[in-house]
Amino acid sequence: MEIKVRVGDIAQIEADAIVVNLFEGVDQPGSATAAVDKALDGAIGSLISRGEIKGKFGEVSIVHTLGKLPARKVAIAGLGKRQDFNVDKIRGVAGEFCRALRKVNCRKIATILHGAGIGGMELEASAEAITEGAVLGLYGFAKYKKPEYEDIEEILIAVKEEEKAPILELAIGKGKLVADVTNLARDMGNEPANYMTPSRMAEAAKELASKYDLEIKVLDREDMEEMGMGALLGVAKGSDQPAKLIILSYKGDEHSEKALGFLGKGITFDSGGISIKPSEGMWEMKDDMAGAAAVITALWAIAKLKPKINVTAIVPATENLPSGTALKPGDVLKAMNGKTIEVISTDAEGRLILADALSYAQKLGLSPLIDLATLTGACRVALGMLYSGLFGNDRDWIDKVLGAAERTGEKMWHMPMPEEYKEQIKSEIADVKNTGNRYGGAITAALFLAEFVDNTPWVHIDIAGPRLSTKESGYIVKGATGFGVRTLIELALSEART
Ligand code: BES
Ligand code: MN
Ligand code: ZN
Repeated sequence: MEIKVRVGDIAQIEADAIVVNLFEGVDQPGSATAAVDKALDGAIGSLISRGEIKGKFGEVSIVHTLGKLPARKVAIAGLGKRQDFNVDKIRGVAGEFCRALRKVNCRKIATILHGAGIGGMELEASAEAITEGAVLGLYGFAKYKKPEYEDIEEILIAVKEEEKAPILELAIGKGKLVADVTNLARDMGNEPANYMTPSRMAEAAKELASKYDLEIKVLDREDMEEMGMGALLGVAKGSDQPAKLIILSYKGDEHSEKALGFLGKGITFDSGGISIKPSEGMWEMKDDMAGAAAVITALWAIAKLKPKINVTAIVPATENLPSGTALKPGDVLKAMNGKTIEVISTDAEGRLILADALSYAQKLGLSPLIDLATLTGACRVALGMLYSGLFGNDRDWIDKVLGAAERTGEKMWHMPMPEEYKEQIKSEIADVKNTGNRYGGAITAALFLAEFVDNTPWVHIDIAGPRLSTKESGYIVKGATGFGVRTLIELALSEART
């Protein structure tokens, strides 16, 4: 799909459909919508006054032009309430109108810059958001099944001022890249576990590395044994697929020794191991590598955007399966930092592999650190499907991550890490145990991870809720969401500026 700037009046564009908009509660449409309404002899206005078009967020009303305009159809996209409007709403609106128009066989569409008029948004921000929303909202996982609808081929973004065209083209380019990369993370998450094995994940990272000049290192079992990564290897014991530790580095600042560390949980299938999960819904656990997919693909975008900063991604990748050689409840493991761990549940495997990945990241001197992990069902219970839970040990770094998340529209909620709950993960026979009691499970998981972080600023994001969507809404579609990718990219860009 191509997305381009078109200088001129939206009403004069020949396309399958042109898109204008309406805020909720407005009965007199303004600017572009008014001009199009006039050409249609007031059809839009009368639909508004009859209450058929309300301007509700996500609403897309399609009217036929019957030869009154060069375009065959006009779509009126609802922007929702004026006071709730922001750049993330533009992404959502774009996703909605693109899907609605694709359903009615539109191949070429043109749109105004939503929010740039009375919404008061910068033109570039609007163009970038429309592009992101369109590319994300039209995503489908088409590898194993033909898609239901044919794709939109071209989106024209209309602007009146010719001199704005170059900066808008740039904004579109950035939006397209970020959304394409997020879609790649979605592909990785949607891939079944019989395809997306730890080895395939390492292959995907290698491919990226050779294409974009990233450094790559993949550690195998022997390397990990040598480094004493007993926690990661403990989880891997039950599987016939070899575990991998993937290290992917982008060097954008040669004069600096510093590098950000992005860590991602890479469980390519989580059956629970010997502490096996109920079979209902177990298939969802093919996406237990959503964190890994996010950090790997974010590095791809960063390599293309070339910020002046160094970033290293670390992905511990393995399956979690039961077998005759599998880890058992009660087993004691020794992690890379020397701490011993009593395994109470083999289903609390994410924290085990991350423990060693965190030690390794600190050994490399990476700082600050951020990890993304589908870590606990408890986090989904606490915050639902939209919000991830954010934990951290450094206020400044936490605020930076929250700021980047706010700009990308990825929802993160700062959670507490009270000392008192550490009681829950005390073991009688080892330094720490890998589960707490029934209450505050997302928090005890974060407290467990904190046992493997020394003084390095670190943020942990539990993405168990938002990594997957069960419905289509705005720029989110069913299946893997690619959650976290856009915040990681934004973080690298914003850190490079400071
Ligand atoms: N991958 C799961 C967490 C998860 C659950 C992610 C649901 C997405 C949706 C994780 O490995 C896990 O099994 N956690 C256990 C921890 C428990 C044994 C302390 C859980 O949440 O039940
Ligand atoms: Mn598990
Ligand atoms: Zn898991």
